[in-house]
Amino acid sequence: MPNLQGHQRSIEFPYVHGFSPVEQERLARQARFLEHKVYQSIEFNNVDRVLEVGCGVGAQTEILLRRYPDIRIAGIDFSEKQLAAAHDRLRDHPLALKRLTLQQMDAGNLDFAPASFDAAFLCWILEHVPDPEQVLAEVRRVLKPGSRLYATEVMNAAFFLSPYSPHLQQYWAAFNEHQLELGGDPFIGAKLGHILLRQGFRNVRTEVKTLHLDGRDPHLRHEVLQYWSELLLSATEQLLAARRVTPDLVAGMKLELQKLSKDPELVFFYCFFQATATL
Ligand SMILES: C[S@@+](CC[C@H](N)C(=O)[O-])C[C@H]1O[C@@H](n2cnc3c(N)ncnc32)[C@H](O)[C@@H]1O
Repeated sequence: MPNLQGHQRSIEFPYVHGFSPVEQERLARQARFLEHKVYQSIEFNNVDRVLEVGCGVGAQTEILLRRYPDIRIAGIDFSEKQLAAAHDRLRDHPLALKRLTLQQMDAGNLDFAPASFDAAFLCWILEHVPDPEQVLAEVRRVLKPGSRLYATEVMNAAFFLSPYSPHLQQYWAAFNEHQLELGGDPFIGAKLGHILLRQGFRNVRTEVKTLHLDGRDPHLRHEVLQYWSELLLSATEQLLAARRVTPDLVAGMKLELQKLSKDPELVFFYCFFQATATL
């Protein structure tokens, strides 16, 4: 059973996707859907303790435990709702037995002693924090010399869809502007390299991971569009409440998504970044 530590305070903070059960399930599906891309180059040979920053509902945690049977994980997240979901997911999981602790913590103020970990794993977290440099400085502080870090992050300017869908494009601009206003950075993927270097990491490498789907693989293209629709809709409630989009725009986008799902000419393109570095 994973050890769930930390004070269970009710913490709400600005976060573009929200913490609903629907969103929590989306995170789990997303992790499985992108697993082959995210983990393609990740190695944890000779690694014991891994810090997972922003572990969310434990979706990546479960994959990490399965793929790397020799590691132990300390997962931290600021949201008690996410941690409760992670705990539910992994409480009775045989892979988590004596290998996992979950703690409520701010990534920018880690409650760990210096040099506590052999590696760090961050996925879709730096895009949501107001000060990613502070988070990486903290991660650096708690890593042992020679440790490895993997950070996988969005690069939302890279989204392209054909045929041109005006409502969808307008909604996407509103989505990204909202995330920026909440203090996040939907374009952080492309900036990871120099941020890591500035924070004292060495051997910094960045890899662009591409999703490019067209008529050559209609089945996968359909799945990607489904996945992307869920991602877009995860922010609808907040965007409406913030008056960044209108109900008409959302309805128009939904109609476009329906049409696109049947269009043999559909082309989908997106890319994200994965940075690797050592200390
Ligand atoms: C998009 S989710 C990704 C979760 C997980 N890494 C995954 O890939 O499924 C981002 C997570 O970052 C967490 N988060 C946001 N700001 C944080 C902070 N300052 N400290 C710790 N966690 C934070 C959120 O609560 C959320 O669970």
